[in-house]
Amino acid sequence: MKLYYTHEKGPHMQIEVVADNAALGRAAAERILQTYADRELQVLGVATGGTPATTYRELTKRSEGRLSTLRLAALDEYVGLPADHPASYTTFVLEQIAKPLGIPAGQVGVPRAEAHDLVAAAASFEQQLRDNGGVDLQILGIGSNGHIGFNEPGSQADSRTRAVKLADRTRRDNARFFDSIDDVPREALTQGIGTILEARRILLLASGERKAAALAHAMEQAPSADCPASWLQRHPDVLVIADEAAASALSNRPEINTEA
Ligand code: PGA
Repeated sequence: MKLYYTHEKGPHMQIEVVADNAALGRAAAERILQTYADRELQVLGVATGGTPATTYRELTKRSEGRLSTLRLAALDEYVGLPADHPASYTTFVLEQIAKPLGIPAGQVGVPRAEAHDLVAAAASFEQQLRDNGGVDLQILGIGSNGHIGFNEPGSQADSRTRAVKLADRTRRDNARFFDSIDDVPREALTQGIGTILEARRILLLASGERKAAALAHAMEQAPSADCPASWLQRHPDVLVIADEAAASALSNRPEINTEA
């Protein structure tokens, strides 16, 4: 693990570079279980998408049912998909995270993007986060355009849970989860940057060459809405776990941890 001197205030972000996505899953699962063992994990913020799949599998394997009392909070949900659609994030969180970990559906919170009134749904999601005492550990992925959650470029540091338009690049990146790009929703309900920054700890996962430029921008340039992940430089407890390909554009590249 290495402290990384980010542009803003450094050395706030820490980074661990591992060989590949399988090693990333092992390292991330270990970190989550350590936080739990330290009694500092009751609400786990979960990211969806391709990157964290190995993390959830490792977590299931290593936790042996110990995490069934956790509450899960999702980052975002597509607008315009029924919650039980196979590509919805509600389905992802229930099927790929909660069920394998033995967490009952009643302990899972996902923004209700099916609601008629999205402003009210956003406010009630934020209230639910507060009622549960906030997120102890937030897992994040990073988009190839630097988004976190569905906070696309242009998202400000103080943004809250809200309805957003998806960037064309995001819709193209996510088309692989749908029959065709025309089926990818154009809007989502997402936690804001300000909401995400309230998590006590953040674990940012980045895998693959496609993420290399966004990760370097997030860690090395002045925080700005051009790369929403760069706002994470303002959080005091961020660990980035990146595989070699995702770390390949960092100017000050840490050595690979071959033990992970
Ligand atoms: P991915 O998505 O893990 O499927 O690449 C990451 C993200 O868009 O946050």
